[in-house]
This record gives sequence, structure tokens and C-alpha cells, in this order.
Amino acid sequence: MKNILVTGGAGFIGSNFVKYILENYNYYIINLDALTYAGNLENLKDLEEDFRYTFVKGDIRDREMVRQLFSKYSIDTVVNFAAESHVDRSITDPEVFLTTNIIGTQTLLDVAKDHWKLKPGDKYNREFKTGFKFLQVSTDEVYGSLGKEGIFTEKTPLSPNSPYSASKASADMVVRAYHETFGLPVNITRCSNNYGPYQFPEKLIPLIINNSNHNKSLPVYGDGLQIRDWLHVKDHCRGIDSVLHKGAIGEVYNIGGNNEKANIEIVKLILENLHKPETLITFVEDRPGHDRRYAIDNTKITTQLGWCPSYTFEQGIGETIQWYLDNEEWLAKVTSGEYLNYYSKMY
Ligand code: NAD
Ligand code: DAU
Repeated sequence: MKNILVTGGAGFIGSNFVKYILENYNYYIINLDALTYAGNLENLKDLEEDFRYTFVKGDIRDREMVRQLFSKYSIDTVVNFAAESHVDRSITDPEVFLTTNIIGTQTLLDVAKDHWKLKPGDKYNREFKTGFKFLQVSTDEVYGSLGKEGIFTEKTPLSPNSPYSASKASADMVVRAYHETFGLPVNITRCSNNYGPYQFPEKLIPLIINNSNHNKSLPVYGDGLQIRDWLHVKDHCRGIDSVLHKGAIGEVYNIGGNNEKANIEIVKLILENLHKPETLITFVEDRPGHDRRYAIDNTKITTQLGWCPSYTFEQGIGETIQWYLDNEEWLAKVTSGEYLNYYSKMY
């Protein structure tokens, strides 16, 4: 039995991951989440009766509270999802990205190091089966932007372009440093754009579904020809599972969907699916510093750990559209208040 501290477990990927783990393993999960605008306990209401699950409202930057959690629950594993995650917000308000994503991660690393009583030199002797693991959930955005050709491997130099990706790249470097310096048993995963249930509707896919459904205009940045590699969130959870259980200590693993699409293609696909007209599309001013293309080389995780994506995009997007149609109440809850204020400022 493992005692896993999942941070940011009330967010999009974190809540999918908490459910995935409890469905597949007999582990205890302590979900530490500050419940920012992006965290929603509605995502996890089915788990309220599960004795293996505990929710704690708190901030990963609060060292004393994190220390108490490690002692109280004998934490042996950390999966760090907690972050400010939206690139546009990092452009209007970068500071919280740096404090949460970098200092928050360093606080967790520091407490893990002290609690697990690791010493320099330990790094070659530790395995997840017998010990501890700190898994940092990072992003392909740390590698920067690609042109028409090329693909990100784990060896691609980091070259982040937004305050968000700079904060994630910095956190990756701190995780690496705690491994090298203190022997902390770490992995870093870098995945591409996730989609699926419970994604906050500020991100492209849920925003477009929600706006189309209500016949609102669909803001497409610049020429809409920017390319992202789309990964279903459940495939991402399976990928993190593989790295958690089988990943070699100290290693970085890319997780991607082999599924490159231009933004405008996605928007048109959603419109077609919902039988809505393309006249809803509005080309708006481009995002400053907008990365043109991301593409992930999956070879390492597929060949070394046996993971590969199971969803085709056609299946995943169909199910995702249906999920948002079936969960209007959830959408209404998360799109009230702060979210609407933010968007009324932008458009
Ligand atoms: P999200 O914004 O949906 O969720 C983030 C969660 O973190 C929220 O529940 C929020 O309340 C919590 N949180 C924020 N600040 C906190 C703090 N200081 N202390 C504790 N909790 C805090 O994000 P997501 O899309 O689920 O992303 C999860 C992780 O995966 C992030 O680290 C992100 O960088 C990474 N990632 C996301 C994607 C994607 O496509 N969504 C792709 C690659 C990597
Ligand atoms: O690549 C992984 C990253 O994917 C994660 O690290 C981030 O946390 C996650 O937010 C996501 O970042 P993106 O910036 O790629 O995602 P977003 O959904 O914000 O935008 C996807 C693309 O769509 C991007 O090229 C910008 C564009 N876009 C987005 C929005 C919200 C639009 O054209 N219009 C929009 O309204």
C-alpha cells in the first residue's frame, strides 16, 4: 500500500488521475489542493465515501502544513500536478505562476527530502518498489516552439517562451537539482495538450464546445494554424502510472498522443459535430509569444515502459463533446464569477 500525496487533485488532470488510481490500485490518496478558480471539488464528489481518499485544502507553498501532512499520512510518493496552468493568464499576471509553480514545487521537494531522510549518493540505490518517488508533472511547452519540421525528444534543450512555460521549466530544473544534489528519487513527465472531461473552459477545446453550444463567438488566435499534439487525459493518466511504477529514477519521459492538429481544424471539427455554423468563428489578436507548433517523440516511454496512447482523436473528441453536453450543470458552476470577469476583460 502506498500513501500518495497528489497535489492539484481538484483540477482537470489531477481529478482524472485520482479517480484512475483508486480504480486501479489499493493505495491511499491525500489530495492537497488550494481550490483556486481551476480547482473544483465537484470533480471528485463520487469519492466522498471512499476511505482511501482524503481531501486537504491548502497551498503547496505552505511549508509547515506540507510538513505536517507528510508526518500525519506517512507520505511515500508525491505526484505534483498543482500549478497555475493557463498560458494567457501567465501573460496578464505572471507572478503567481512563478511562486506556485517554482517555489511551490521546491517546498514540496524540500519537505520530501527531509521526511524521507535522503542523503547525497542515495540516488543510485532507490527504486519505487521499495522506497519513495517524487513525480513532477511537466509539459512539452518547456521545449519552446517548433517550425514545420522537428519533434521534441527528452534531449531537446529547454527553451520556454511564456511566463507559464518558463515557470514549469524552472521547476523541472529544481527537481533535477534535488535529484543530483540530495539523491531525491524523481521522475519528470512532459506531456502534450490534454483534453477530456473536467477541463476548465478557458482552454481551447472546452471553450469552443461551450461557446458553440450557446451560439457564442469562437475566438481563434492569429491565423489559427498553430499546431498542438492532443492527448486524451485518460491516456495521460496511464502514462503517469507507467512512469510512477516503472520509470527509471532520475529520468524524464515525454508523453504525447501522436496526434498533431491545427487549432482551426479542431474548431471546425467541433462545429461540425454540434451542427453549428462556421460564422461563429472570430479571428482575434494573436497571443503574444505564441508557440507555433508542438510535437512529441514518444519513443522512450513506448519502448522502455510499454505505454502507448489508446484513444484515437475521433473517439476522444466525440466522447468529450458529449461529456460537456451532458454536464451543463458542472459547466455553469465553474463558469460563474471569476471566470466570466476574466473573459469579459479579454474580449
Ligand atoms: P488545472 O489548472 O486544471 O488544475 C490545477 C490545480 O492546481 C487546481 O485544482 C488548483 O486549485 C491547484 N492549485 C493551483 N495552485 C495551487 C497551490 N498553490 N497549491 C495547491 N494547489 C494549487 O491544471 P491541469 O490542466 O489539470 O494541469 C495539471 C498539471 O499538468 C499542471 O502542472 C500543468 O502544468 C501540467 N500540464 C497540463 C497540460 C494540459 O494540457 N492541461 C499539459 C501538460 C502539462
Ligand atoms: O502543451 C501543453 C500545455 O497545453 C499545458 O502545459 C498547458 O497547461 C495547457 O494550458 C496547454 O497550453 P496551450 O496554450 O497549448 O493550451 P490552450 O488551450 O490555452 O490553447 C491551445 C491552442 O489554442 C493555442 O495555440 C492557443 C489557441 N487558442 C486558445 C484559446 C483558449 C485559441 O486560438 N483561442 C482560444 O480561445
